[in-house]
Amino acid sequence: MANQATLKYNDQSYELPVVVGTENELALDISTLRDKSGFITLDSGYKNTGATKSAITFLDGELGVLRYRGYPIDQLAEKSTFTEVIYLLLYGSLPTSTELSAFEAKLAANVEVPAQLAKMLDAFPADAHPMAVISSLTTSLSAYYGAEGDFSKEGVDKVAIQLLAKLPTLSSWALRGLAGKQLNVANPSLDYTSNLLSLFFAEDSNYKPDPTIVQALNTLLILHADHEQNCSASTVRMVGSSRANLFASVSAGISALWGPLHGGANQEVIEMLEAIKADGGDTMKYINKAKDKNDGFRLMGFGHRVYKNFDPRARIIKAACDNILSKLGVSDPVLKIAKELEEAALNDPYFVERKLYPNVDFYSGIIYRALGIPVNMFTVMFALGRLPGWISQWKEMIEGKEPIGRPRQVYVGALERDYVAIGDR
Ligand code: ACO
Repeated sequence: MANQATLKYNDQSYELPVVVGTENELALDISTLRDKSGFITLDSGYKNTGATKSAITFLDGELGVLRYRGYPIDQLAEKSTFTEVIYLLLYGSLPTSTELSAFEAKLAANVEVPAQLAKMLDAFPADAHPMAVISSLTTSLSAYYGAEGDFSKEGVDKVAIQLLAKLPTLSSWALRGLAGKQLNVANPSLDYTSNLLSLFFAEDSNYKPDPTIVQALNTLLILHADHEQNCSASTVRMVGSSRANLFASVSAGISALWGPLHGGANQEVIEMLEAIKADGGDTMKYINKAKDKNDGFRLMGFGHRVYKNFDPRARIIKAACDNILSKLGVSDPVLKIAKELEEAALNDPYFVERKLYPNVDFYSGIIYRALGIPVNMFTVMFALGRLPGWISQWKEMIEGKEPIGRPRQVYVGALERDYVAIGDR
């Protein structure tokens, strides 16, 4: 395979190195293109721009493949625990039982959150969105730990553990604090997922999480744990590339995730399904609205920048959805609407031609709701799942000593003109 590509423009030729990934993906290294030729590249929305080389997650959007550190997502979702997946993403290999116990002990030793931080909750109105609360609390952690930016191996590990150990508590504050409920304290003797449920739902010391709910949540957290250079992960890397500390970088990632075109879609999907139900359940009306270019409506939970085939996570979540609802004895009328929408879209030329399939957010909200999670907490659940991915991406960027992220632009504004005094305009 040639290791150079040639770009021709007028009578000039420019050689560009070809980079080949371990899965034989091909990239043109254009880092010297401007020096050689004066050209920059233009790619709005970074639709075809590789921002980094990464060894964390592989996905093939055409084939619907997703692997963390080489392990297929379906195997991890079926056989692994979320803590094991956190370890895998952070350190690159599945832990031995000794490594896992040591890792869990480190997390357990760092669950405590500065009590003063809870005072911030008083500053939020009761109807504040929980994503606003957790992004603020996350960046506030830098006032206590790691603001100075110790980027040594030990320093990076320390802040990673701090954030992983503390975000469950901060998230539970967003749920319980805004609702005026007593704040719960983390129970380090529980596994990560059971502790999360206990922080969210325990009203007294007798609380025991339902094993069906623990297992369902474990699967959802694993499915959300990383997704290579998506909007929020790229944000974390971009902010971190200025050597901002981990808490500030992840807080920015939480904000990026919040948007309805990204992780905020899980809340939007359930609200859309409820609206369709309230409107009489006419799914075709909404399929037609989504196709109408004069209507701003989009079918939320459908479409993906990278997947042009089934999102493998959506397949797993759809199967889990039926299973979990039946185990919990929950009958949710919007599940039927979701299935009808999916069926209609998958048989409609508009969606087929554009390769629009259900994404990870299409069915996840129905499960979260069955688990007792309020709708405005759905994107927080996504953030909790994605946290190890963000941290691993930030860690990889720091370890690789990547330069500050700073795209270029093609300027299309006014040419030079002289300042005109205000009275003369
Ligand atoms: N409903 C209707 N039409 C859609 C949808 C949708 N959900 N998604 C894409 N399209 C159409 C676009 O209108 C466009 O049509 P055109 O070619 O006629 O102009 C075409 O499909 C391509 O769509 P783009 O917006 O250009 O694709 P892009 O890669 O920029 O966007 C995105 C991907 C943001 C996910 C988009 O599909 C979308 O808005 N989906 C709904 C929101 C959603 O579910 N987001 C969660 C994504 S998963 C995640 O982030 C965790």
